[in-house]
Amino acid sequence: MANKLPSSVLLVGSGGREHALVKSLALSPAKPRLLCAPGNAGIAHEVACFPVAADNIAGLVALAQKEKVEFVVVGPEVPLSLGLVDALMKAGIPAYGPKADGARLEASKVFTKQILLKYKIPTAPAGIFTEVEPALAYLQKRGAPIVIKADGLAAGKGVVVAQSLAEAEAAVRDMLAGNKFGSAGSQILIEDCMFGDETSILVVVSDRDYVILPVSQDHKRIGDGDTGPNTGGMGTYSPAEVVTPALLARIDREIVKPSVDAIAAEGIAFRGTLFIGIMLTADGPSVLEYNTRFGDPETQVVLPRIKSDFLALLWAAARGELRGQILDVRPDAAICVVIAAKGYPDNYPKGDVITFPAHLPPQTSIIHAGTAKNATGQIVMNGGRVLGDTALAPTLREAADRAYAACEQIQCASKYYRRDIGARQLNRP
Ligand code: GLY
Repeated sequence: MANKLPSSVLLVGSGGREHALVKSLALSPAKPRLLCAPGNAGIAHEVACFPVAADNIAGLVALAQKEKVEFVVVGPEVPLSLGLVDALMKAGIPAYGPKADGARLEASKVFTKQILLKYKIPTAPAGIFTEVEPALAYLQKRGAPIVIKADGLAAGKGVVVAQSLAEAEAAVRDMLAGNKFGSAGSQILIEDCMFGDETSILVVVSDRDYVILPVSQDHKRIGDGDTGPNTGGMGTYSPAEVVTPALLARIDREIVKPSVDAIAAEGIAFRGTLFIGIMLTADGPSVLEYNTRFGDPETQVVLPRIKSDFLALLWAAARGELRGQILDVRPDAAICVVIAAKGYPDNYPKGDVITFPAHLPPQTSIIHAGTAKNATGQIVMNGGRVLGDTALAPTLREAADRAYAACEQIQCASKYYRRDIGARQLNRP
């Protein structure tokens, strides 16, 4: 590890991922002064928060300079793609997260698909379109189910898994003709549908060196039994036992290392998180997407399982000193059940007062995502995904029982959560 760790760290973002990152960074033996911009009500309870929006690049650089911050950790994808890390580096402030050229791996699904195909990394066949008619003709050839993806960033909503050709055609028209995602949807990918278990592989990358974090599984659909529209993620658990050590070695060999090498070969000096969404198909693991930041809510279950100093890991990655790092991981299971506002991912209310239980089960924490304080200082719902009840225990069953006990005790009028987080693994014979 790099010997002198930063004594002050600014974390950028305001979601559950950032709250989990704050908790983890606070455990560093370096005991850094932690700051967050803009943060949420839960983060503000733990560290100083500053009202600078995550997409205000000049404002964030100015804040880091004013507060004499020694290291910046960037949570969400938007500031990365807007060049926050480039701007911080120009100002001489070390930061964790890719520069804009690396963030393009998330900001453009077409760019990523071209890299995957060029370097023969397993992924589904796809067509790239900017016009409706050729896209509809391609749909006719490929049939349904089929996946339609807006090229650009669309807050997790730009992917439609169409079960019928009619649904696929509507998605194509919405994106290319209806401007549903603005410029993010002016170019689309139409990709063959893959089937199997989906898994999230978070990799801390520093040029050609990397460390794979504990493997997790997300629940993307809003409803129990994986029904209804896609969301940012309704719950996670780790470890994902479906990824056996042998399968992880294969994923590393066929996907992680080739991806890291491909990115470097493209001339991108990538120092940050490469989050690889993988489908475990009958023919082997295959890449669904790259993201260039920690997953949300994957981070909420991955970080509590890491015993190593997480600040030291990110600092080493940012400085190009990652080679030889070994991660110390707890054998325990972690789960996160997301509490959303009823109506999410479409329209949902804001402002409902949240009442928290006085006591939580052991090793259980309530991670804040979309929360704020109202004028009288009460904590209220302020986003689609509001809280993440996260628990760690020797088994997934015990962790789930703890997290769900906390879910029941939290009071708020528009509370919604899935009842089956972890069920796939818990019900496996
Ligand atoms: N949970 C999926 C994501 O962070 O994109």
